[in-house]
Amino acid sequence: MGKLNKLISVLLLAMILFMLSSCDYLSPKSNIENETEVSGDATHSVAVGFSQTGNQVGWRLAQTTSIVGEGEARGYKIVYTDAQEDTEKQITDVEEILKEGVDYLIFDPREYEASAAALQKAKDAKVPVIVVDRAVRGTPGVDYVTLIAPDFSWEAEQVANWLKRAKGGKAKIVEITGTLGSSAMIDRQKGFGQVVDSEPGMEIIASENGNFIRSEAQKAMEKIIQTKPGQFDTIFVHNDDMAIGVLQALKSAGIMPGKDVMVIGIDGQKEAVQAIIDGEMACTVTCSPYYGPIVFDTIEKLIKGEFVEENIIMQNYIIDINNAKEELDKAF
Ligand code: AHR
Repeated sequence: MGKLNKLISVLLLAMILFMLSSCDYLSPKSNIENETEVSGDATHSVAVGFSQTGNQVGWRLAQTTSIVGEGEARGYKIVYTDAQEDTEKQITDVEEILKEGVDYLIFDPREYEASAAALQKAKDAKVPVIVVDRAVRGTPGVDYVTLIAPDFSWEAEQVANWLKRAKGGKAKIVEITGTLGSSAMIDRQKGFGQVVDSEPGMEIIASENGNFIRSEAQKAMEKIIQTKPGQFDTIFVHNDDMAIGVLQALKSAGIMPGKDVMVIGIDGQKEAVQAIIDGEMACTVTCSPYYGPIVFDTIEKLIKGEFVEENIIMQNYIIDINNAKEELDKAF
């Protein structure tokens, strides 16, 4: 081969290598940096991990049933863990899920800051993460694929504005909060507080942690009944499961919910909707636990290499005496 032919061959090879490296269509398209390649029959070959925070309240059970049920119905292998309301355990759970070699991870982070360690482990393992429900520190498109969640602040604003209208802008409020450090708790406190702060006649006179758990909320309410007797007319509770515990504490102390005090919650749980019909609760706002369809639609988009939004918002609405009866059958 002459010198010129050799030179042409080298140039041609260099051109081919350059074209291959810059061809988008040779690798799956994705809007994330940590996506693994998944090929073949998506609904029969893909393993999906789901790290749940706990299952002690009705909302969590409904969310678990929705996600695990939908995944299994579509033929995915589901690797499921329950952190039992322990943030450290949830981080270990994620490690265990990753060891199973899952293709995707559905992650419901218990806390905003502390749960970021689990996210990092998935990123190191190059497993794409779909964050659901609560937010976690990190950037969508970089540290995880997408956040599918409601606007917790909006939810709390809805019940606060409802209360403002119902009580003519005057209320002495007790707040029973959800898990400290969770985005659900942080944002609900913020959204409710913004409305209260804008209304001179409304005031939060006490705030106690109920950890989103009914029995803990009941104890928190019992404590406030002892320490602040006769000083409140409203109880804002960060979820409906806790609101049922609050109703129990009030009734045991001879305080009649619906007559002596107003109780408002969040979630749209069946027992709370029934309590609205019975006149014991004033209102709640839904927080849909039905994540299964949207989560697996999103995973299927990723498998096909389609674009996925970095923030997908779940829609919710108020339930009060005007629509409680028609909502009862739909509630979880
Ligand atoms: O993160 C959502 C909240 O967590 C729900 O309102 C509550 O019921 C659950 O435990």
